[in-house]
Amino acid sequence: MEFITKVSIEGKTPLVYGAFNENIDIHPNLNDYLNDLKNDGLLDLSLGAVNKIYPFDKLENKALFIIGLGDKNNYDYEKLEKAGSKITKKLNKELIVVLDSFCHNLNKEEVLKKLILTTLSYNYHYDETKSKKTQDDFSLGFYFTENLHHVIEEYVNLGMAINNTRDLINKPYNYLNTNDLVNYAQELVNTLKNDSVEIEVLNKEKIEKLGMNAFLGVNKGSSIDARLIHLKYYGDKENAEKISIVGKGLMFDTGGYSLKQKMNTMKSDMGGAATALGIFEACVNNNVKVNLEVIICATDNRISQDALLPDDVVTAMNKKTIEIVSTDAEGRLTLADAITYAQRKGSKKIIDIATLTGAVIVALGEYTTGIFGNDQEMIDKICNIGSKENEHLWQLPITDYIREKVRSSKVADLTNSTGRSMGASGAAAFLEEFVEEGTKWVHLDIAGTCFRSQPAYNEAYGASGVMVKTLYEYLKSM
Ligand code: BES
Ligand code: MG
Ligand code: ZN
Repeated sequence: MEFITKVSIEGKTPLVYGAFNENIDIHPNLNDYLNDLKNDGLLDLSLGAVNKIYPFDKLENKALFIIGLGDKNNYDYEKLEKAGSKITKKLNKELIVVLDSFCHNLNKEEVLKKLILTTLSYNYHYDETKSKKTQDDFSLGFYFTENLHHVIEEYVNLGMAINNTRDLINKPYNYLNTNDLVNYAQELVNTLKNDSVEIEVLNKEKIEKLGMNAFLGVNKGSSIDARLIHLKYYGDKENAEKISIVGKGLMFDTGGYSLKQKMNTMKSDMGGAATALGIFEACVNNNVKVNLEVIICATDNRISQDALLPDDVVTAMNKKTIEIVSTDAEGRLTLADAITYAQRKGSKKIIDIATLTGAVIVALGEYTTGIFGNDQEMIDKICNIGSKENEHLWQLPITDYIREKVRSSKVADLTNSTGRSMGASGAAAFLEEFVEEGTKWVHLDIAGTCFRSQPAYNEAYGASGVMVKTLYEYLKSM
């Protein structure tokens, strides 16, 4: 897919306009014609309706696609996104979008940004595992008269990073195991070609030396060794402050001996890691002024002679002992050590992202991400940005009641499973045990929002790429 800035709409390329139910006013040559069609009931201008119109002698362009924007007084960014989602290659391989017609009361720069992100999102296909590939020969031009080229550059970078995140999540385990993810991260750093970027990958021996036995416990059943991926970007060298994004990197989650009855889609259990990598890519490509680290404890959760067992007790990097009640509550074990590692490396601000609990799906469903943490200011800010980006979040509590349950093991300091009730909060309370005094910490549970098995709103099956844009905007605003 290619994006072009257009200085003119002249030529044969089909044009895309947005139009409201009210009087149409988009082009002097077209207004009377289109208003006549509308009055004859031949145009559907309800939100998201697509009308293909031939301009005949009025313009040289082969066709016009008029997308309904509904009523003027109801128009907002969410409506724009709905309309924008209809701009796909199905209309034509080459299109020119007339930006002004989608603006009305909205900010031009924001409109352009949203249209780039939605078109990149709705034209995304994962076909690596199909013998027939869809051709990527869609060319989208944007016509505007202002100097907005920088917006295209920035948001094409972000949109591509989001689609890379989706690619990673959509890849099945036999296309992407721990070693493959390490290679991807190394390759990413090479292609970013930026002196402010570094990568460090720890092998199993190094991880053992650090005493990350909660993380290593999960890896015991695997034929592929655990690896820790640590990416660093110093985009704000005068500033000593940095922020770490910790992503859950379970390449596949069978549940281990606490075997899952249904484990389809568990290739997506590295969604947090893929999200973190997408955020990193976008920040570096757009030179965001932030010092950012990404930490991923990568492994799969499988069964073998050596696999972790229920009743085992492991000692985490911070020396707390954990009773394994369920080997399927593995994400929190890897995240616990990743959070400790981030703090040892000097981070005072941590956001972790994880496909952590089935319980958050029951509570919030597929379109709302669960958010927890110890810093209300950070939480509020992320929630507000999420609303603007149409990636909604909802805060869930960590109560003393659930904290006590996490500490209620008869044989260890902590239990890794507090049972069915408050499952998402139980996982968050467990992670909180690894957050040290003075660390600001936010936890995002994307188990429901990361992977669409039954997509709504015309979205593609599979990975959504959720939270890349919200956290990108958050880091930009810091
Ligand atoms: N990876 C799963 C959570 C999950 C479930 C993600 C469904 C996406 C879709 C996680 O490792 C898990 O198995 N959690 C358990 C925890 C329980 C054993 C305490 C769960 O939620 O059932
Ligand atoms: Mg599990
Ligand atoms: Zn898991």
